[in-house]
Amino acid sequence: MITYKTPAEIEKMRAAGVVLYEALKAVKAAVRPGVTTLELDGIAERVIRSYGAIPSEKGYEGFPGSICASPDDMVVHGIPSDKVVLKEGQIISIDCTVLLDGYQVDAARTFPVGRISAEAQSLIDAAKEAFGKGLEQALAGNRIGDISNAIQTCVEGHGYGVVRSLCGHGIGKEMHEDPEVPNFGRAGHGLRLRQGLCIAVEPMITAGDYKVYIAADDWAFLTRDHSLSAHYENTLAITASGAPLILTMPDGFEGEDV
Ligand code: MF3
Ligand code: CO
Ligand code: CO
Repeated sequence: MITYKTPAEIEKMRAAGVVLYEALKAVKAAVRPGVTTLELDGIAERVIRSYGAIPSEKGYEGFPGSICASPDDMVVHGIPSDKVVLKEGQIISIDCTVLLDGYQVDAARTFPVGRISAEAQSLIDAAKEAFGKGLEQALAGNRIGDISNAIQTCVEGHGYGVVRSLCGHGIGKEMHEDPEVPNFGRAGHGLRLRQGLCIAVEPMITAGDYKVYIAADDWAFLTRDHSLSAHYENTLAITASGAPLILTMPDGFEGEDV
């Protein structure tokens, strides 16, 4: 079901977005060679609970973490673990959702672990750039396909792959609401955007082939060819006219990022 949020509901989501932003910032500050993804999980959970909010991935369909922590060729849904010790040169995607006052927000970033290759940094940068191209299309009157196509065009223009089997999504009282927001597709197609629609836009991109498989833990998605993958996500609210509100970026897209 598609729900359109009132200004009061969007304010609640914005408040949740500040908590999520602070959690991601704290995780970023802790990412270094030698840290485990379970330690990062604990940091995010502590920050989120310190605001009286809930790390809503925990328990979602049985997921055990407060964050998804997905290194290198893992695309998304990595289970935090004390066995996963980050090493210099890796990249780590952190995806987290926060529930506050009945409303959800969702955001992800991919961080370098120590010094990384220029190739890995380019992939990280392209994921943010692709999100930005989608953002430019997130305008009342446009369609979901305009966002999808802008992301795909950007990613493939860099020679990278766009994961097809995972999508962005509507968000509000539920973490996942309609509509789906694919990262590929045709401009001019799909649901028409209008004021109050809240969506998570989340390009998941690969340095090689876009095909993925699910790991033996039944959660993690990995690239089939084991090429690197990066993820960048924010929760947006479509406005009556002009740019959307980026509920998980308190300083806006051009401002300070996590
Ligand atoms: N944050 C994810 C998304 O972008 C969903 C998390 S799945 C969970 O849609 F199991 F970890 F909760
Ligand atoms: Co997410
Ligand atoms: Co999402």
